[in-house]
Parts: sequence; C-alpha cells; structure tokens
Amino acid sequence: MSDRYSRSRQLLERARHSLTGGVSSPFRAHFPVPLYFESGQGPRLRDVDGNEYVDYTLAWGPNILGYAHPRVTEAVARQALGAHTFGAQHAVEPEVSEKFQRAVPCAERVAFTSSGSEAVQLAMRLARAHTGRNVVLKFEGHYHGWMDSALISYRAPVDQMGPEDEPAITFGSKGQVPNAAGNAMVAPWNDIEAVERRFAANPGKIAAVITEPVLCNGGCMMPGEGYLAALREIATRHGALLIFDEVITGFRMTLGGAQAHYGVTPDLATFGKAMGAGMPLSAIAGRRDIMELMMTGGVAFGGTFNGNPMSLTAANVALDVLAENDGAALKQANDTGYAIQSALREAAAAAGIPIHVCGFGTAFSVHFNERTSMVRFRDMLSNDKDRLAKYVRGMLDEGVYLLPDGRMYVSCVHGAREIDETAAAARRVFATL
Ligand SMILES: Cc1ncc(COP(=O)(O)O)c(C=O)c1O
Repeated sequence: MSDRYSRSRQLLERARHSLTGGVSSPFRAHFPVPLYFESGQGPRLRDVDGNEYVDYTLAWGPNILGYAHPRVTEAVARQALGAHTFGAQHAVEPEVSEKFQRAVPCAERVAFTSSGSEAVQLAMRLARAHTGRNVVLKFEGHYHGWMDSALISYRAPVDQMGPEDEPAITFGSKGQVPNAAGNAMVAPWNDIEAVERRFAANPGKIAAVITEPVLCNGGCMMPGEGYLAALREIATRHGALLIFDEVITGFRMTLGGAQAHYGVTPDLATFGKAMGAGMPLSAIAGRRDIMELMMTGGVAFGGTFNGNPMSLTAANVALDVLAENDGAALKQANDTGYAIQSALREAAAAAGIPIHVCGFGTAFSVHFNERTSMVRFRDMLSNDKDRLAKYVRGMLDEGVYLLPDGRMYVSCVHGAREIDETAAAARRVFATL
C-alpha cells in the first residue's frame, strides 16, 4: 500500500504503548488516519511525513486566526519570557474581561476557565444555585462537554433514542453517575411546543434551558426563525435561566457570538475555542447578580490555571484583531466560508452527488443526503455515512484536512487561494464517489 502517512502511523504505533490509544482524546482516533503534525502556518498544516494540507479543522475550532498568527505568537512569546502562570491576578485579566464586555451582550461579568466543559459545569451550578431548582433542560444532539451532568442524549445509538418528540435520556459514557439523569430533561431542538410542554409538566422544577444557539455539534443546523427569542421568553416566564453554549459560535459567528447575531441575550453564556486563538482558555459570562454568586452566594468555583497569563495574552491580542475595522476579519472569514460552501455544492452537483450544506460561514457541515432542509439532530440519521467517510478520506489524500463528521471551520486567514484549491480537490473527490 502506498503510504503517504507512514511516519504518522509509526508514531501512532509507538505512542500506543504508553499513551492510551495513542491519542490525547478518543475523539481524535476517529480520523481516517490519526495524523501527527509538525507545524501550522495560516490556514495550512504540515504533517510529519511532509504532507501539506489546507486545514478546515482549526484544531476543532480554536484557530480562528489560523496557525501561528504573527501578532498572537509575538505576544505569547513575550509573555513566556515573563511568567507562564501566576495563580494570582495580573493586568491582562481586566483587559480581556473589558473587551469581552464590549463585545458580548450578556457579559455584565466574566469569569475565566480553561475548557468549555468546565465553563458549562459552572453555568449549570450557577443556574441551580440562583433558582434553587435542579433540572437542566437540554436538547437532543447538543454537546456541552463531557462532564456527568452535561453528556446526556448526545448521539445515542438509534435504538436507544426513543420517540422523536420525546427523546430518551441517554448517557454518553459508562461510569456516569446514574442520578445525573434525574437532573436532566431532554427535548427535540427547534420545536418550541416541546419546550412549552416540558415546562407545563414540571412547574417550578427547571433551573435552566441550555442550548447551542446553532447546533454546531449536530450537523451545524440553524435555529428556526424566532426560535431563540421564544426560548428566551419561555425561560423568563417560568423563572428559569437561559444559557447559550457559545463555545463554538462565540468570537466566530460574530464578535459578540450568536447572541449578538440573533439579538437574543441569554442570562449566562459559555465560551471557549476561538477566544483563546489556539491557547487553552474558556469563559463564562452573564448577568451580574448570577455571576456574583461565586463571590458572595456560596457557589464554589476554582481552577489552578484560571486566568493564566499565556492564554489571556493570546486572547487579548486575538480579540483586538477580531474587533479591528468593525469586525472586518470575521466578516471576511464568513464570506470565505460561504464561497467554499457554494464551491462544494457546485462540485457535488457536477458529479451528481446529492449533498446538503448547512451552518454559517465559519462553521458548517456537509451532509450526504437528499434533504432540502435540516432542522433537527435526527435529520442527520439518514445521511450516507460511507460516502462521508470516503469523501473525508479522499479530501485528505488531496491535501484538504477535514473533521471526520464533515464539519468545516473557516478562519480569518483562509482566502481565495484556499477556496480555489478546495474546489478543485472537491471536484476530483466527488467524481470518485
Ligand atoms: C458547544 C460546546 N460546548 C462545550 C464543549 C466542551 O469544550 P471543551 O472541549 O473545551 O471542554 C464543546 C467542545 O467541543 C462544544 O462544542
């Protein structure tokens, strides 16, 4: 077998004997070939075999400014000569939280954490403390990290999903505490009546509704017209909080996230990925009275690396770059993404392959099906998975690096050259499907 990935395979084989599975996150083992990388520059990656790729994974999202953005690199290098972490206050913290406040509508107060999963955990805890209720209503197919109370009804096996209107509560992992399910409720997304029914049947029980404002982890499906505003209204009417999980949409869809785009302000929102431009950083932002519970309301919250200066220095620069010229960088990134979507649709049509592309400019998914619209997680179940796998592998061989589920992230430094190369690769690959 000709093997342009031989060095990666050798390293994987070696790593297996010490590193569980040879990878640092089991999700990463799903790639057709779990590649080992050497470097990244702008929108491009180079693996240890010397292969170069136009990259649409952006490290599962964070590299919104591409790899090794010069201004971020320079600032982080300078900070590295100072201190890597203090476990105490430093001047960059309020700089970033003030930029956050200016950009994000709900951000009366901000707290920094290190991963999206942690930020979600904190949001749920705050919601429970604030309302004195336990149940968090989430939506089928939405991913909010891997903590016990969050990893519920996310991509369950089809035979365990239950009816579409009443999705079953399913665990995402062995070893989750069973009573996590007792504090979770699940509804189909983009169905406001389903949310009304759950509130009506459980008066005074639901602490919060949590949603990805765009279902990025379930095929990049968009919220229906007025859906997020309706969630806002129902939550308020029932004394529950609305939490937007903007770990993907934050600092990507617009500078102020999906909440700015849709004009719907949640009580709390979680952020990660793009805000650190490649450094590990996440945050929770929200109403002052709720956030202050961490200081004066008995809500415990910690984290050795919270607010560490390396990550915040990266964020400080990244938020400047993204905010400059009235947010021109993200507007251009979204335009580039829409151009890539069109190019993929054209390439597929030319080859007679039915695809459905949905999402927004900087985060979208290619689905192999004949649908004309996709609104719920289960709409993905009829996708042709074999064809997707062949497409992802074909694109890899053509030098275009994609996530295994067909999702694509576009950065501010992808441009005309990447659009052309991706279109040409897609034409060749679709012709083989
Ligand atoms: C919407 C959403 N929330 C939370 C998380 C968890 O973030 P992390 O992987 O940083 O823990 C993710 C990760 O992909 C995510 O997409």
